[in-house]
This record gives sequence, structure tokens and C-alpha cells, in this order.
Amino acid sequence: MTVAAYRSQILHVRADPRVVGADEAVQYFEDGLLVVEDGHIAQLGSFSKLEKTLSKDVSITTFENTLITPGFIDTHIHFPQTDIIAAYGEQLMDWLHSYTFPAEAAFADPAHAKSSARFFVDELLRNGTTSAMVFATVHATSVDALFDVALAKNMRLISGKVLMDRNAPKELCDGADHGYEDSIALIKRWRGKGRLNYAVTPRFAPSSSREQLEMASALMLSDPELRLQTHLSENIAEIKFTGELFPEARDYLDVYGRYGLLTDRSVFAHGLHLTDDAFERIAQAGASIAFCPTSNLFLGSGLFDIGRAEKAGAHVALGTDIGAGTTFSMLQTLRVAYKVGQLGGYSLDPFTSFYLATLGGAQSLGLADKVGHLTPGVEADFIVIDLAATPLIARRMNATKTLLEKLFVLTVLGDDRVIARTYLAGALAHERDSGRNVNLG
Ligand code: GUN
Ligand code: ZN
Repeated sequence: MTVAAYRSQILHVRADPRVVGADEAVQYFEDGLLVVEDGHIAQLGSFSKLEKTLSKDVSITTFENTLITPGFIDTHIHFPQTDIIAAYGEQLMDWLHSYTFPAEAAFADPAHAKSSARFFVDELLRNGTTSAMVFATVHATSVDALFDVALAKNMRLISGKVLMDRNAPKELCDGADHGYEDSIALIKRWRGKGRLNYAVTPRFAPSSSREQLEMASALMLSDPELRLQTHLSENIAEIKFTGELFPEARDYLDVYGRYGLLTDRSVFAHGLHLTDDAFERIAQAGASIAFCPTSNLFLGSGLFDIGRAEKAGAHVALGTDIGAGTTFSMLQTLRVAYKVGQLGGYSLDPFTSFYLATLGGAQSLGLADKVGHLTPGVEADFIVIDLAATPLIARRMNATKTLLEKLFVLTVLGDDRVIARTYLAGALAHERDSGRNVNLG
């Protein structure tokens, strides 16, 4: 049995602060101790109380001027789009054809998929993201490449082969089997291996035939553990096109609803131009929306109405949506989420921000009993945030008087530079200053 203990400020969010109130939801220890045993959280509490209970041979790592939180959870990201971040000048449909599809076609080459997967996973860890729901490409080998790397890191990750069979280049379209055989083989190969899970991944309604959506539904019914990821109502031209392709559907969401894809295992990216009624149907189904603010602004897609989603009871978490998104950092994503909220008269409070980036994401992905918080018993995926990572952050942090202010400064000024360490199931998976240990006491 391996036991390790970490002393730092420690914070986690145990419920939605908007529902139960911040006092109940947020647990914070100014001088805390996190005890990890065999990859799981064994104890969490104040240093003075817990230290006495530890056996003498347990070594305590002390961090100075740091905050330990659960690792971030990114509920929507495309690993094959790392190389098209910052592609100039287009909105969604042209961006897909000009940049995205050519970049994804390159993943027919397993060597390219492998090297891209390695870079991608390292970048997640460098940014403090410990779990993600990830689009691969249409190629089964792209999923193999990503899962191979994630398994070697013992990362809790969900991905799936993209399903598409129309309105895309031929080489990216599934053949006569409509991707069914490939998906079944991938599910057999990967689901439940290590900490991996599989997501049925129809790209979006416009790139799937009715037959393919039916097949996606059959896949979802074949195994209750599978998740579903797709895009919904992102761009006005896309919504119009979807209406032309599926005139029988009441709206965009109804296309998925008709094929049994509106479920409590479904994550819909974007949801920018939804009616109240659609938000309510998402809430009733127990499905989730991945709010991807940097992508929504970059592609000029629109402003997500978090207040309206909240009122309808629709569950929302966060996605970076690389490569339409412009950062891997969930902290940078949170500050753009805040600004989008401001434009809609909604002030996203920092406790809710941390909830969205941790437990809220875990809930979207069906992982809340495993990650996203630091309750004893769950898996020890956590990060060490350096509260003095830059002169400006240190100066501004010094001037804060409350925990709320401190967290807000982190979301407005923080990025990969503040992520000192990332731990996966208790093992150190990323160290910013390897060899330097600037924050070790
Ligand atoms: N809609 C369909 N495919 C995509 C994609 O790759 N990125 C984004 N942002 N929207 C999509
Ligand atoms: Zn996307």
C-alpha cells in the first residue's frame, strides 16, 4: 500500500453552488492536508487535525503559496484539431471544409495519429486537465492512438470514432457499414480498459444520414455504459441546413430526439440558438450541454445564454472545443465564459466557475462518483495551482481578501503557467518545474 500526503491550501466543490449555496458546496482548507492511498483520496482535512493521525513513515509534501483542487474536466474537445487552432477567417461551415476536414484526413496515417495523440495528452496535463470527452476522427486508428496514450498515463478519458457519411469529403465518410463494425470493434477493444470509456460520436446532424443516426441509436442501446457526444445548434447557417435536411423534425434537437440520442448519457456541444422549450427538453432528458466560449467567439457563432439554460434546469459544463476553441486552459476558458455571461447580464460567480470546470464536468460525463472532487474514496486526480506563478498574479493575489476574490483572480489571470503539478490517480503526471521545485517548502 502506498500512502502520500500533500499540504497546501485545498479546495473542492461538492455540489452546484447555485443550488445548495456556496457555503454548503465549497469545502476549503487554508492549511489543508490531502492523503492519497493507492491512487484514491484517503483523507482530506485541516493539516493540524490530520497530521496527528498519520503514521510516522508517511512523507508529507508541503507546497507553499499553492491551491490544490480537483483536476479540470473538459467536456468537449477534438484531439485531431490541435494543428488548426488559429485558422484564419471563416465561420463554422467554411471553417470545417477549409481547415478541419483536411486536417482530419491526415489521421489516416497511424504515425501522425500517434504523435498527435502524445502531444495532445501532454498539453491537457500541462493545463491541469485530468479528464476529457474527446472527438477523434472517422478513422478507427485515431481512437486507438489516443486511447493507447491515455491508457499508458492511466488517464480517465472518453473518446470515440466520428460517425459521418454525407456532406463531407469522401475519404472522411463511413462506407457501406456506416461505421457500425468499426465502432463495435473499438468498444470491445477499449471500453472499461484502464480508466477509459467510449462515446458514440455522430459528428453533427448534417453529416449523418438517417440510417447512420439509427445505427448510432442501436450502439447506444447495446451498452448502458456508453456515452454520446455530438454538436447542436452552433451556427445560424448550420441550423438552416439541418432544417432542410430533416424537414420532418420540429427543430435541431428533435433530430437527435427522433433517433433516441437525447439521453442522460448525451453531451451536446454549444446549444447557442435554442428555444426555452429545447432547453427544457434537454433538462427533462438529463442530457448536458458543453459550453465552449472561446470557440463560440472565435467562429463568431454566438453567445451562450447560461442564465436561460439554468432557468430551464439544463445541465451545463465547459468545453475548450480545440481547434475552434483557442486554448487548452480551462482557466482561460472560464474567463471567456465570464465575459460571455457579462454580455448577457449574467454574472458567473467564481465558485460556480470552479464547479463547472470540475464536478459539473464529471456529472456531464457520468463520472461524479469517480473524479471531479476530493471526497475520500474517489480517484486522486488533482492539481497543484501556483498562486504566485507570475509577478502580476502574485501581486494581485496578495491584494485579495476573500476566497471568492482569490478564485476570481485565478480565472481571470490564470492559464497553463499556474499549473505547477498534475496528478493522475495519485501519480505525478506533469511537473511544470521538474527539477526546480520552486514551491516546495
Ligand atoms: N460541428 C461539426 N463539426 C464540428 C467541429 O469539428 N467543430 C465545431 N466547433 N463544430 C462542429
Ligand atoms: Zn466541437
